[in-house]
Amino acid sequence: MPVDDSCLSGFYRLDPEARRALLTHLSPEALEALSSGGGLDEASADRMIENVVGSLALPVGIATHFIIDGKQWLIPFAVEESSIIAAASNIAKRAASCGGFSTSCDEPLMIGQIQVLDVPSIPEATSVIQAEEASLIEFLNDIPSTMIQLGGGCKRIECRQVEDMLILHLIVDVRDAMGANAVNTMAERIAPRIEALTGGRVLLRILSNLASERLARASVRLSPDAIGGEDVIAGIIDAARFAEADPYRAATHNKGIMNAISAIGLACGQDWRAIEAGAHAWAAISGQYSSLSTWSIDDEGWLCGSIELPLAVGIVGGASKVHPVARACLEILGVDSAQQLAGIMAAAGLAQNLGAMRALVTFDNNSKLHSTRISWIWPEIDEEGPLIWNLYRTQLTVSSVNFMAPLRTGLSGEAGEDAWFNETESGLRESIHLEQYYYYVLIPIDVVGNSDYLVRPGNSRGIVVHDQYWSYHFPPPEPPPPPPPDVPYYGPSPWYGRLLDDFGMGRFQQAGMVFIAVFLTNLMLVPMMINKYRVKKRKVRREKARKAKRDGTMSTDEFADDFDDFFD
Ligand code: MEV
Repeated sequence: MPVDDSCLSGFYRLDPEARRALLTHLSPEALEALSSGGGLDEASADRMIENVVGSLALPVGIATHFIIDGKQWLIPFAVEESSIIAAASNIAKRAASCGGFSTSCDEPLMIGQIQVLDVPSIPEATSVIQAEEASLIEFLNDIPSTMIQLGGGCKRIECRQVEDMLILHLIVDVRDAMGANAVNTMAERIAPRIEALTGGRVLLRILSNLASERLARASVRLSPDAIGGEDVIAGIIDAARFAEADPYRAATHNKGIMNAISAIGLACGQDWRAIEAGAHAWAAISGQYSSLSTWSIDDEGWLCGSIELPLAVGIVGGASKVHPVARACLEILGVDSAQQLAGIMAAAGLAQNLGAMRALVTFDNNSKLHSTRISWIWPEIDEEGPLIWNLYRTQLTVSSVNFMAPLRTGLSGEAGEDAWFNETESGLRESIHLEQYYYYVLIPIDVVGNSDYLVRPGNSRGIVVHDQYWSYHFPPPEPPPPPPPDVPYYGPSPWYGRLLDDFGMGRFQQAGMVFIAVFLTNLMLVPMMINKYRVKKRKVRREKARKAKRDGTMSTDEFADDFDDFFD
C-alpha cells in the first residue's frame, strides 16, 4: 500500500520520534520495533545464526519523494553511509516533477542448478531430459506446498553444456518468496531421477544467484530544468559512457546503485549478498563487466535513464518475517508482492545512480563551488584624495602590500555606492583553495600613483574558504520554524516546558495560593508558639528554683541557668 504523500515536508528537521509519529500507517508493533534501537532480542538472534555473542544495529532511514508507477512510496534504507538517503530523496523529488519512475518486473522465476558429471553423451542426455520434461515437472510439483497452490512451482527444465558437464536448470516460480529453500529442495529431490535418465553423476544441486529470469527494470525521464541544466545532462551522459566502457569505473558506478538496492534489501530482511552477487554477475553477462544502468538524451533534450538487473527478493519467509525491524520496514513500504518490492528497489537504485553522477559531474575543483565574496561601500573622498583603488589578496599577515601583485587595479566608484568582488576556486595554483585563510586588502592610490600600501583594520578583510559542496548540491537545511505566537516556546527542556504550562493552569494557581497562605501563617505562628513555650518553660524553672531556694538544695549551675533564663 503506497502512501498519500511521500514528501513528508520537513521530515529531516524532526527527531526520530517525531518522524515515527508521521508514519501513521504503521502498527504499534512496527513502531515499537523501530524505536527499540535494533529490534532483535538475544534469544531471537541466537536462533538465527550460530555462536551468537551480540547483534549489530544499523540506522534505518526513509527516502522520501518517490513516485513509482504513479504511486507515492516511502522507502526504508538500512545503511551506515551518510548522504545516501538525502541524495536518493533529492533525485526522487526532481524526478517527481517529471512524473516519477516506471518499473516492470519479470515473473518471480528462480533457477536451480544441477551439475551432472561423467555423462556418457551430453547430447543424448539432453534429448532424454527434454522428452521427460513434463513428467519431471509433474514429479517436482506433486508436493503439498502453498507456493505451488498459489500458482508457483517448477515451470521449465533447461539443459546446458558447460565444458564436459551437463548442467540442468530448473526454472521455478517462487511467487512472493525469495525462493532459495524451495529451489534447493526441488534440485535435491530430482537428482536421483536425473542420474537415472542421464547415466551421469549428480554433484551440486543448488540455486543460482544469477537470477536472470527474475529481472526488475526501472526507467526515468527528467527535463533539463529538473536535473540542473543541459550541461549537467551532458556531464551525466559522459559519466555514464565512462562506466559502460571501463570496468574500473563500472564497479564504482554500480556500487552507487547498490547503495540503495542493498540498503533497502537489508532493511527489508532480504539476502543482500545474493542480490549483490546477482547484480554484479548480470553486469558482466556480456563478457565485460559494465554499468547496470544506461543514460541517454531524447529528442526533446530530456535525460532518460534505465536500469535492469536480477532482483531475487521475497516478502514471505526468511528474515523478512523473523526480524521485527525488517517486518516494520516492509510495513513502511506496504508492498503487496515481491515483484513490487523488486520494482521499487530498481527505481531507488536508478535514483541513487543519478544522484551520485550528478554530484560527481557538478563537483570538481574547476566548478563554481568554493568561492569568496567581499563587499564594501565606496568612502567619501576629498578632491585631492585617491582616485582609484587596488585590491590585493594575501595569506600572510603583512603590514604592507607594497611589493605584491594586485588582484585588481584601477577600481573606483561613487561615494556611498556598494561594490563587491567574487573569486572562485580554479585548478590554478594562484587561485583560492579550500580551507585556506585569505586577507583581501583595498589600497587607495592617489592621482600621481602614490600610496603608502599599508594594511589597516579598516581596509582589510579575512575570509576562510569553507567546503561549499552540500550547499551547492542540496538546499541547505531550512532553519527551524519560529514557535507560533500563541504557543510559548520552552526550548529543548520538556520539564521546564511542563512547569510553565502548569503555571498557566487555574488549579495549579489555587494550590499555589493555598501553599503561600499556609506558609505565611506558619511563618507568624511558629515563632509565637516557640516564644509562648519558652515563657512557660521559664516560669516552671523559676518556680522550681524558688522551691529549691526555699528548701536550700539549689546548686551553683542551677543558679547560673536561672540567670541565663533571666537574660534570655
Ligand atoms: C559512494 O558510496 C558511491 C559513489 O562512489 C558512486 C559513484 O561513483 O557513482 C559516489
